[in-house]
Amino acid sequence: MPAMPKRKTQTIDQPTGNAVAASRVLKLQRWYLAQARDLPWRRDGESTDGKPGQHLYSIWLSEIMLQQTQVATVIPYYLKFKSKFPRVEDLAAATIDEVYAQWAGLGYYSRARNLHKGAQAIAARLRDGRGWPSTRVEWLAVPGVGPYTAGAICSIGLLQREPIVDGNVVRVLSRLDRIAAIDAKMSEIWSRARVLVESRGARPRDLNQALMELGATVCRPKNPSCLLCPVSVVCEGRDDPLSYPPAKKKAVVRAVSEKRFVVLRKVKASFEVLLAQNDESSQWRAGLWDFPSTAPRGQGSARLVSEFTSRYQVTVHKVSREHQVLLVGGRAGTCAKSAADGTWFALNALPGVPATVRKALEKVRHEKI
Ligand code: ADE
Repeated sequence: MPAMPKRKTQTIDQPTGNAVAASRVLKLQRWYLAQARDLPWRRDGESTDGKPGQHLYSIWLSEIMLQQTQVATVIPYYLKFKSKFPRVEDLAAATIDEVYAQWAGLGYYSRARNLHKGAQAIAARLRDGRGWPSTRVEWLAVPGVGPYTAGAICSIGLLQREPIVDGNVVRVLSRLDRIAAIDAKMSEIWSRARVLVESRGARPRDLNQALMELGATVCRPKNPSCLLCPVSVVCEGRDDPLSYPPAKKKAVVRAVSEKRFVVLRKVKASFEVLLAQNDESSQWRAGLWDFPSTAPRGQGSARLVSEFTSRYQVTVHKVSREHQVLLVGGRAGTCAKSAADGTWFALNALPGVPATVRKALEKVRHEKI
C-alpha cells in the first residue's frame, strides 16, 4: 500500500495530567506516527469522502470486527463488507441473511446481529435529523458497543479525550507501571488510560491507537521487543515484562454434546441440503443457519448415508457434534422449497453459514451418496 496520506494536526480541548504521563504520551505518539501499520480502516477513518459520519461508519465497523479477531483476518472481511454495504444506510436496509453472507467465517455472529441492529438505529437517527451518535453515552446505546468500542470510536473518530482498554492496552499499561493486581472491571487500568489521554499534549486518536499498536507489534505477550520500544526508558516492568499482566485464571470450559441431521435431497442431477435457523435460546449461534437438530418429518423415506462427529471449540464451549447424513426421497422431499424443519438450499447456493457447517458440508460433498 502507498504511504498513509498526510493529515491535519488535531485540535482538542484543554489538557491536564502529570509530567511522566505527558512524557510517555509524546514518545508513544511520535512512535505511532512513524511506525503505524497502514490499515484500511485507518485510512477510511480519517476521510469522510464528503459524507458526514462516513469515517465513523468505518471505525465502528472495524472495531466490531476486531473484537476477538486478529487484524490479518479482519482486513479482507472489512473490505468485502464495505464494498457490499458502503454506507450505514445500505447496511440498515439489508436483510440479516445478507449480513450473515458477508460475515460467514468471521465467527462470533452476535456481532453481525448487533451491527445490523445498530445500523438500523443509526439510520433512524439520520432520518429524523439527530445525526450520528456523538458522545460516549450515545455510542453506548448502540447495540454491540461496550466501553472499549465507545472509547475507540470517540477517541479515533471524534478526537475526544476518552480512554480505551483492550487486551493489548492492559498488557502495555500493566508493564509500564508494574500493576500486579487487575480486578475484573480493570478499574486501575482504565484510570491509568484516562490519565494518559487527559495529559498534556495527548492527541486521543494517535495515543489510543499507539497503545494498541505497541501491544500488537512490540509489547507482545510472550516475546516483547523491549529494544524497539519507544517507552522502554520509562517502563517500570522492562526487567521482568513476562510477569505482567498477572496470569488470569483459566475460563471454565463447558462440554457441549449434540446431534444434528444433514438432510439431503436430489433435485435433477444435484443435491440440496435442509437448513434451519437456530432459535434465540441457542447462545452463540442464535439466528444462524444450521443443520436441524431433529430428524426430518414428512420427507418420505430417509436413507442413512453416513455418520461422523466434528469436534471444535467456540469461546468456552467445547463442542462434540454428531452428524447423521440422511438422503430423503419421495414427493415431499423432491417438491417443497420449505419443509416443516427448515429450508432447502442448493449446495452451491448456501446462505451465510458458520465455518463448522461449511466444513461438515465439504466432508459430505466428498462422500459417495
Ligand atoms: N484492534 C482494535 N482496534 C484496532 C485498531 N483500530 N487498529 C488496529 N488494531 C486494533
